[in-house]
Amino acid sequence: MLIRRCAILVFEAREHLEFDLATLFSGEQALAADCRWVALAAHLDAEVPVSDAELALLRSVGESLWVEREPLDRAHGQDTVDAMLQAGLLLAFDGAGAGWRERDEAVRESHWRPLPALAHAFSRWSGQDVASDPRLSQFKTIRDMVQAFGPPPPETVERALAAARVALPPPEAGPLDGPLMARYTGRNYDPAGVVPLAVASRLLQRTFGAQQVREIAEGTAALKKTSPSGGSLHPIEAYVLVQRVEGLAPGFYHYHPVTHALEPLQALAPPEARAHALAFVAGQEWFADAPLLVVMAPRWRRNFWKYRNHAKAHRAIMMDAGHLSQTFYLLAAEAGLPAFITAAVNEIDIAAALGLDPIRDGVIAVCGCGPASGEQVTVEYR
Ligand SMILES: Cc1cc2nc3c(=O)[nH]c(=O)nc-3n(C[C@H](O)[C@H](O)[C@H](O)COP(=O)(O)O)c2cc1C
Repeated sequence: MLIRRCAILVFEAREHLEFDLATLFSGEQALAADCRWVALAAHLDAEVPVSDAELALLRSVGESLWVEREPLDRAHGQDTVDAMLQAGLLLAFDGAGAGWRERDEAVRESHWRPLPALAHAFSRWSGQDVASDPRLSQFKTIRDMVQAFGPPPPETVERALAAARVALPPPEAGPLDGPLMARYTGRNYDPAGVVPLAVASRLLQRTFGAQQVREIAEGTAALKKTSPSGGSLHPIEAYVLVQRVEGLAPGFYHYHPVTHALEPLQALAPPEARAHALAFVAGQEWFADAPLLVVMAPRWRRNFWKYRNHAKAHRAIMMDAGHLSQTFYLLAAEAGLPAFITAAVNEIDIAAALGLDPIRDGVIAVCGCGPASGEQVTVEYR
């Protein structure tokens, strides 16, 4: 059997502190540190604790060449090799475990840089509910947080004495002022509110749509959008969850940026659509009634085609999403609607619901908008 190691593999040293009461009473140091290695591989959904023997085995197998299993069995023991094959950290050329090999190959073809690949893979959520996160739910207000943590770093920094500052003239009024000043993150949507079709159409086209298609090489096109994009590649796809948009059946859609059309993926009954909205935004009830939600889902390979194994590529895609989000907010504000963006999303569940590939596609954030209820149940900065 031929074997090699998966392509992106990093080991993290984890400390687990244990409290030993018996030692405490004997007057000795009562805390004991148990240090372990944890393997993080970009093609796996979960981390894998590894023993010293497994670590030694993994260190001796390269990621490029397929090698015979037999000498590894002799040097490290059959059980150790079996365990690593089963965990997916070692890959078999064929036979059982070929599934891992397929996923590992998708990682290789994507041209991910190892650390961002792992940062992305291991910051994804499934089934998370922010309300049940004790780190946040223990605080009801910002005042409670200040009391627990002390004040945050100040809201500004001063790098010169006041007398040395060069005062600037007041800003002149401009055509963007209207939406810029009206923009805010809405957290109180009208559960019966409807987004007019004309508003949804303008929002989607002016945020995610192509304003122009340019041939940049033979058979190769670039899209010109209202937001900038690293490498001009626009890797972020917009998937729409319609709850209440005039003339559109509730459900999941993919927005086609060139034809300016919605591609239906799945029709949903209104309660199902709301349940998905709530699950997508990890239980943030204050966003779940937005009638129109958009999932921003990059096709990594579109960017990494140019920025192969590049240290800045992942950051650039995150910034693409930020630009799109602000454009979305401004267009919503122009239409008199509050909007939101959240990065607290269940990426794994969203990918499953939308039929996205867990390795080739990503999920960065969800934004949405809709008419305000007029009540202030959840805080907004207006
Ligand atoms: C990247 C990003 C992630 C955010 N995630 C959340 C979130 O998970 N939940 C939420 O209620 N607001 C979220 N917000 C909205 C901010 O809380 C909001 O922008 C901030 O409170 C300032 O309010 P304003 O947008 O009305 O000026 C997010 C904003 C950004 C830019």
